[in-house]
Amino acid sequence: MADQIPPTAVSLIDYQQLANEKLDRPSLAYLEGGAADQHSSEANIKAWASATIWPRVMTQARGATTQTSLLGLKLDSPLMIAPTAYHRLFHEQGELATATAASALNTPYIVSTQASTPLEEIAAQAAGSPLWFQLYIQHDREFTADLVLRAKRAGFQALVLTVDAPVNGIRNHEQRAGFQLPPGISSVNLHGMRPAPSMSHALDPRLLSSLPNWQDIAWLKELSGLPVIIKGILHPQDALLAMEHGADAIIVSNHGGRTLDLLPPTKTALPLVAQAIDKQIPILVDGGIRRGTDVLQAIALGADAVLLGRPILHGLSVAGATGVAHVLRLLQHELEVAMLLTGCRSLTEASSVINTPN
Ligand code: FNR
Ligand code: LAC
Repeated sequence: MADQIPPTAVSLIDYQQLANEKLDRPSLAYLEGGAADQHSSEANIKAWASATIWPRVMTQARGATTQTSLLGLKLDSPLMIAPTAYHRLFHEQGELATATAASALNTPYIVSTQASTPLEEIAAQAAGSPLWFQLYIQHDREFTADLVLRAKRAGFQALVLTVDAPVNGIRNHEQRAGFQLPPGISSVNLHGMRPAPSMSHALDPRLLSSLPNWQDIAWLKELSGLPVIIKGILHPQDALLAMEHGADAIIVSNHGGRTLDLLPPTKTALPLVAQAIDKQIPILVDGGIRRGTDVLQAIALGADAVLLGRPILHGLSVAGATGVAHVLRLLQHELEVAMLLTGCRSLTEASSVINTPN
């Protein structure tokens, strides 16, 4: 039977609830889990929710639009799909369902290195809508270079280098639920790589010597000729370093609170990074964005676009491609309502909604 939208799914929160009811406990722990005591993953959501929005009324709304442009792309909306691993854990069509939804709405989709479907098949399904490839630099550099070139050949238009997770976080939530990848689901695009030496501790010298560094931005740009976007920036000094080393854009992210607990909520980091970058390169943000008013705040605080992680997986779990598309449409609708009710004709006018009038 085709996937159907449940009548009670009227917001992203409902999709989370419905996904929670549907998934088995280990998969759910993997999806929702934050690092250690999960303070950061919860703080991301609370930070957006604890805002006050200042509206203007009776403004000239004719021609209002959520259009934006980003790295040469003309987009109808600032919403994007964050890279998340193993979509086949959540729906039998996995990444192909996500790509179908992304393509239907022309929403940029950042495909994870740890996707559970071959890159070429995802690209074919996306049918020309914007696709970026999220890269985890592997211990095997030759394999990494081949993977990047393979993504380019498949039609991916940018590389998103994730820099905040050189090791897994302390995933107690997953451990307690006994999470393991089921047979048949794996990082298929990493098959054939030289096996990593088994490492007994995080500070193993062999791990330390293979970690990504700032020079890798130039390496990847030269290798691929593609724009390189750095994901996982929180500190404004790191934002400047990324830009100085050639990053074409940065993503303010704490990995959805999944790497180190007690990192700042991304809403706190975003304005500091925006001040440092001073509009020289685009800034994207993710972490806890669940409402149109969250998107509007993110734009007001200096983001050019926002990424959705878990909500996409909730939509995927509940109703495959239809669910993912519905999640994106719901949030787009909320953003449009928020713009109209605050008197913002375009995203560039968003800053007024967060400033207390004097
Ligand atoms: C992720 N994230 C992630 N990031 C990345 O760069 N590569 C990856 O493979 C993954 N995998 C992944 C799996 C799952 C299940 C989740 C929930 C997250 C992080 C993701 O891109 C994003 O930063 C956060 O999910 C954003 O926060 P929200 O929207 O989930 O609150
Ligand atoms: C995660 C890894 C895959 O967050 O980035 O689960």
